Amino acid sequence: MQKYLINPNQKIATINKDIYGHFSEHLGRCIYDGIYVGEKSKIPNVNGMRSDVVDALKEMGIPVLRWPGGCFADEYHWKDGIGDKKSRKKMINTHWGGVVEDNSFGTHEYFELCRQLGCDTYVNGNVGSGTVQEMNEWVEYMTFDGVSPMAQLREKNGSKAPFDLKYFGVGNESWGCGGCMDGDYYGSLFRRYNTYCRNYNAEKPLIRIACGPNVDDYNWTKKVMEKVKHHADAISLHYYVVPSGKWHGKGTATNFDTKEYKSTICKAYYMEELIRHHLAVMDSAQPDTRVKLIVDEWGAWYDVEPGTNPGFLYQQNTMRDAIIAGLTLNIFNKHADRIMMANIAQTVNVLQSVILTDGEKMIKTPTYYVFKMYKEHQNNTLVGSYITTDKIHSDNDNKDFPQLCESASVDENGVIYSTITNTSPTKAEKIKCQLADTRVGEITAEILSGECHDKNTFDDGDCVKTEQFTDFRKLKDGFTATIPACSVVKFVIKK
Ligand code: AHR
Repeated sequence: MQKYLINPNQKIATINKDIYGHFSEHLGRCIYDGIYVGEKSKIPNVNGMRSDVVDALKEMGIPVLRWPGGCFADEYHWKDGIGDKKSRKKMINTHWGGVVEDNSFGTHEYFELCRQLGCDTYVNGNVGSGTVQEMNEWVEYMTFDGVSPMAQLREKNGSKAPFDLKYFGVGNESWGCGGCMDGDYYGSLFRRYNTYCRNYNAEKPLIRIACGPNVDDYNWTKKVMEKVKHHADAISLHYYVVPSGKWHGKGTATNFDTKEYKSTICKAYYMEELIRHHLAVMDSAQPDTRVKLIVDEWGAWYDVEPGTNPGFLYQQNTMRDAIIAGLTLNIFNKHADRIMMANIAQTVNVLQSVILTDGEKMIKTPTYYVFKMYKEHQNNTLVGSYITTDKIHSDNDNKDFPQLCESASVDENGVIYSTITNTSPTKAEKIKCQLADTRVGEITAEILSGECHDKNTFDDGDCVKTEQFTDFRKLKDGFTATIPACSVVKFVIKK
């Protein structure tokens, strides 16, 4: 029996709702087909946005959406995506399959999508192949409420009122697809580009994001932090879980053995170490800890589904992905004091997506259900908690990882939410939970579980879904429960 302690009186930090954020790039069938089908499509839509996808994302509680990339951001020229759709320039999406991008989804469409979703906005600007003037004018176009060339152009294109832009990213992966720079050079460029991203709305200054490190590139973090100083509000980390650890032959999304399962989960846990170490480097460059960390690309990256365009990065999603999501979101919660936002890659039809579409069909993936289960953590207060756990060994990595992982938060009414992930593919675990200074009233619980290969398909979209969980017994000051193998469980505890 493992011991689980929750101390609702130990209030640690507000869990920024944007930790539950998403990312949509002009990549494969994410935007086109997956989100935007155009006003004339037979697929039910509002102003071109698929209604089924918008409804599902709202129900899941999407708090913020990053756009337009990714690698695409650093070759995106925003003026090509405004004005009359028929005369918008077409371009080649050189990063993602060499397909023609007709720019029918641009700035106005993105803000319309976020309006329908009721979510906050995060636009990523182009440093790699764009000019300072281009970035300066985009910010003016999106946010200036007054008389100016860009505000007038926006009005001519149908929006007199400025858009509500919350986050602005100055370049993406500038160490790689965004320009192959070194940290010193990028840090200087950040300062230059960022200078001309004006705060037109004094009451709502932009939250400025500097390109952060790839995985464990601590030197990048150091160099950029030393340069950007107080000019940035956050720095972004990218980390993907690749089962084989190799970009060629990553491993498939659905066909894996136990060794590979364990190795994938072991690699997902690596996120914790990365966050701790990058924060330590950031702190040594900036002891006042003003600059926050964001993780604006994370998730599992497998080989594409057989028979699909290799440039489209379309992959299936199983209970293994649900476990990755469950443990990663718990890790983010635990670092709520320093993580401002995280964005899983990518919302629809790419990498670890929450939704897959095929023509007019749509399915919710196991990862979708984890985000939906965890949504009450958004804006709650993280409280102190600790669980004892066995360790699981990953032969491929020669490393142990915890079988159980959890986080707990409290809402404004004193209701406690605890989310536990059992990463073992085979072993259920008994736990005894005790809540400090708390007399427990009502407890309800929900579970997502299955065999680790279980998935939803277009023929059976309901194979994996959340259910009510009843295998627990209430105690005066807590509960006992058996957490099934390969599961994510949420307890809602009222006093
Ligand atoms: O998410 C796919 C790609 O991964 C993004 O475009 C890029 O930023 C990262 O390398």
